[in-house]
Amino acid sequence: MGEFAFIIHPVSGAKDIARKYPLLRILPEAVLEQLLKRVSPKPVSEITGIRSQTGAEARGWFVGCPLTPRQFLDLPEAFVLEKIVSAARMAQDLGAKVVGLGAMTAVVGDAGITVDKRVDIAVTTGNSYTVWTAVEGAKQAAALMGTEVSQAQVAVMGATGSIGQVCVRLLAEEAPSVTLIGRDEARLEGLAAGIDGKAEITHTTDPHSGLREADIIITVTSAVDTVVPGEALKPGAVVCDVARPRDVSKQVATQRPDVLVIEGGAVEVPGEVDFHLNFGFPPKTAYACMAETMILALEERYESYTLGRDLTVEQVREMAALAQKHGFKLAGFRSFEKQVTPEYIEGVRKAAARG
Ligand SMILES: NC(=O)c1ccc[n+]([C@@H]2O[C@H](COP(=O)([O-])OP(=O)(O)OC[C@H]3O[C@@H](n4cnc5c(N)ncnc54)[C@H](OP(=O)(O)O)[C@@H]3O)[C@@H](O)[C@H]2O)c1
Repeated sequence: MGEFAFIIHPVSGAKDIARKYPLLRILPEAVLEQLLKRVSPKPVSEITGIRSQTGAEARGWFVGCPLTPRQFLDLPEAFVLEKIVSAARMAQDLGAKVVGLGAMTAVVGDAGITVDKRVDIAVTTGNSYTVWTAVEGAKQAAALMGTEVSQAQVAVMGATGSIGQVCVRLLAEEAPSVTLIGRDEARLEGLAAGIDGKAEITHTTDPHSGLREADIIITVTSAVDTVVPGEALKPGAVVCDVARPRDVSKQVATQRPDVLVIEGGAVEVPGEVDFHLNFGFPPKTAYACMAETMILALEERYESYTLGRDLTVEQVREMAALAQKHGFKLAGFRSFEKQVTPEYIEGVRKAAARG
């Protein structure tokens, strides 16, 4: 049986902790954050029942790394890395042979390279499978809206990031035009210069101008706050929000009924998986980065698979093939934690047609 662990943290901030421990609700966010700083990583739950269609099985553990997204970015990097390493060592002590880094634990510093050097088990950020599910999810959701990627103007926000860069490379093979949106002009220029593919590549540091003409958008920044300006979106646009914490605010759903926002990276896990933890997904559904860690365990391929910020298209395709082999597939679309039904899509299409 394959054995893995996955490191999680409160992605919505300290109020996540207050949800689990209601007595803490009376404390202001800043006080909760001070408390979290002092708490050591600990096992959160056991994950049972993963069974591949090949017959292989895996079990694992969630290990909590108690820091908020803002703390991951604002506290001294050495302190944060120490906490992630100690969570990874806990995974090792539990018996895991590969550990996945969830959300901001994969973003801090060098995206897993240092953690990998300091533990004796394999480490992955899970970003390879995340890229695949983001691109496939965005394309399939767009098709439901009547938009084919081969005819679409595409934009990637957070284009210079680990996930964003490879999303751009994959989409440039299919779309006629791809706009790269980021904060650093020089990095955007460098990325744009290295893209092969048939697409016309443009780049901008202004989200408004980058998003205005886009039919399909993947947004995958590591920003702590929402960064997609709802008013800039084109009627009928599809936005795949891969970022955790989210890039698109809930207000966009009410302000823009003519736009389809889906959650990126949700995957159905084969078997009778029980996470013994509610992280806001329907039963038997996981984030793609969790799924990549499970896949490595099912394969008993205990090597550090996705590390650092330079992912390759080949890695992404290989992980997608392994996912298919074991029976992982894209979960049904969800928008702000609600299932996207055909009636919902029809409503968005009608609102977009009204202009
Ligand atoms: N849904 C899933 O299954 C899943 C799986 C893995 C990761 N994730 C999430 O994906 C996101 C990105 O991860 P990553 O590993 O690609 O991170 P990364 O390599 O650190 O890249 C993040 C990108 O976001 C940009 N950015 C940061 N703050 C920004 C802001 N305020 N406004 C605009 N752009 C900003 C950065 O631009 P600069 O170059 O200017 O800094 C960079 O290009 C994270 O939220 C992570 O939690 C989701």
